[in-house]
Amino acid sequence: MYSKIWQKQSAISWIERLMQDIWVAMKQSWWKMINMWAWNPLVFDELISMRRKHSEKIIASEEFWDIIWRYWAPKWYPKLIETIKKYFKKEFNREIEEENILITTWSQWALFYGINVFAWEMPDGSRKRIFLPQSPDYVWYWCMALDDDMFVSVPPKPEKTWKHKFKYKLDLSEFPNREKVGAVIYSRPCNPTGNIMTEEEVQKIYDFVEWTDIPVFVDSAYAWPIPNLVYTEMETKFHKNTMYSMSFSKAWLPWERIWIVVWNPKIIKCLESFHSNLALMSAKFGQALAVRAVSSWELQKVSKEIITPRYKKKFEWIEECYSKYMPDEIPWYTHEVEWAMFSFIWFENMPITDEQLYEILKKRGLLVVPWNTFFSWIKKENFKHTSECLRISIAVEDHEIEKWVKILSEVIKEVYNK
Ligand SMILES: Cc1ncc(COP(=O)(O)O)c(C=O)c1O
Repeated sequence: MYSKIWQKQSAISWIERLMQDIWVAMKQSWWKMINMWAWNPLVFDELISMRRKHSEKIIASEEFWDIIWRYWAPKWYPKLIETIKKYFKKEFNREIEEENILITTWSQWALFYGINVFAWEMPDGSRKRIFLPQSPDYVWYWCMALDDDMFVSVPPKPEKTWKHKFKYKLDLSEFPNREKVGAVIYSRPCNPTGNIMTEEEVQKIYDFVEWTDIPVFVDSAYAWPIPNLVYTEMETKFHKNTMYSMSFSKAWLPWERIWIVVWNPKIIKCLESFHSNLALMSAKFGQALAVRAVSSWELQKVSKEIITPRYKKKFEWIEECYSKYMPDEIPWYTHEVEWAMFSFIWFENMPITDEQLYEILKKRGLLVVPWNTFFSWIKKENFKHTSECLRISIAVEDHEIEKWVKILSEVIKEVYNK
């Protein structure tokens, strides 16, 4: 017998199953598959040469051995701390100190610490949960909880905004009892949907926590100013309870996965202990790259001038293909494109489930993500919507986009007209 954590982690088999399935499909017929499943950032020559240039400079510098050969304090490389302080001052007009900052490397650890520190069993025996005010949201939050029953969320509220468009709205009437909430977490911009919660919606969340010390963990993996995959007006509002987090993966350093968390020193200290127990320290080479690209404002400039417009072009192309090939008479709706990387598509009253659609598309050479499994924190029985959605990555060549929209439109006509 193994522990409850083992049980919980094994129960994530649906993600593994999907990944495995996709892996097998790719191995068997990679030559005909269009992989719209993954969320790799697009690769641009400018980003590669920038990476090369800074790597070479670091290797040639006197601190190279120190960077790759020396243990350091658990959370940081001091130059990146200084860089983040300046970044916050310039971009958000906020003065922060070293004690406010945690830097982690290797992916989602910052999220892992936050989720398991703020929810679960309290010292008095009660249980607090992480509140996800938007649904769907980033599925890996769920995977990172060490125990089951650590989340509370609200049913999805899709609102049609145009003939083939919709937007998820926040429904305040469904907010849970504050006493039971250990922290709030959301991604803004939201993976998977393409949604960016409005300023008013964010304010409602801040009102919800106003007289409490409930942290609001803001996941800004795709936000302005880095990587800036945003197409609408988006302001980052801070509040006394805001625990801000950002990543460098989507702009430039997908391999290093550097996460920055900014909040009050007491909490940062706790997360830092967690981090030092788990990691001893954060790897420094990626941090040294980030220092060079961020302190020179090169990464912000590249985000704005290269990354944002090129993703936008992809979306314009997808929209063009949708309107050219998708059947007008069928009730399909894509989420409003408020930021890039995914097209989230809803087939209202679809006669089959998203899983079945996934299987048919796979046979026709198209890999996408059926989204039902990822509505994991709500009771799905009453919400047919949860088995009607697909997430489609846009990080492929333009001719492949055209091809997959054609395939999707053919399949969906067959499905509805059967
Ligand atoms: C909303 C969101 N948060 C966090 C992450 C993890 O980011 P990273 O790749 O920087 O570890 C992702 C990755 O796709 C994401 O979509």
